[in-house]
Amino acid sequence: MGILLDSASVEDARRAQELGFVEGITTNPRLIAETGRPGLDVLSDLVEVFDGDVFFQLTANTVEARTDEAWQAYEIRPDKVVIKVPTTTENLAMVSKLVPAGIQCAMTAVYSPAQAYLAAQVRAAFVIPYVNRMKRQIGEGAMDIVRDMVRLVAGSQTQVLAASFKSLDEVIETRLAGVDCLTMPLDLILAMGNHELSQQAIEDFARYL
Ligand code: E4P
Repeated sequence: MGILLDSASVEDARRAQELGFVEGITTNPRLIAETGRPGLDVLSDLVEVFDGDVFFQLTANTVEARTDEAWQAYEIRPDKVVIKVPTTTENLAMVSKLVPAGIQCAMTAVYSPAQAYLAAQVRAAFVIPYVNRMKRQIGEGAMDIVRDMVRLVAGSQTQVLAASFKSLDEVIETRLAGVDCLTMPLDLILAMGNHELSQQAIEDFARYL
């Protein structure tokens, strides 16, 4: 995957589908809460309107309840649902059982190279570092940590899927750090293809029509 939409809005999902180059959708509990609807209902709608993978984050309080929640979400659309789980040792152990059972999993809120390495060991399909939050919370070394994650999972079945972007500069810096997959809000996706000087060039050419 390359570019993903970070949103739980069905309208955004439809727009992403129309764009044609958006390959997945990531959601999180905040984005789901913004819809005002139950998470699994939102997930059902997203997989209906969007062709690619849709990531759904578990929120239940115990491992047993999160495992049930994972199966409920997966069964909505087994070929498209990716289970997203905040990274803790307990959740890595849970994912080590979900993956062999056939559920694609993504370890999210990954802040350290060690967590990314362990996520690859349990065969998570994705590790998700939060770039903007890392920059705010860790500071200068944030991008080096992301680079280390890329090196640590290279050659495994795990891909780094960077998230939490607030600007296109952050997106491009992260891609240049070697990250293959990037998830961002619709406004950043839409801004990516435009430039004021491109627009000016279009207007210049239009004078000859
Ligand atoms: C994506 O999966 C993450 O949940 C999301 O990008 C976090 O973004 P935020 O830092 O804007 O909450």
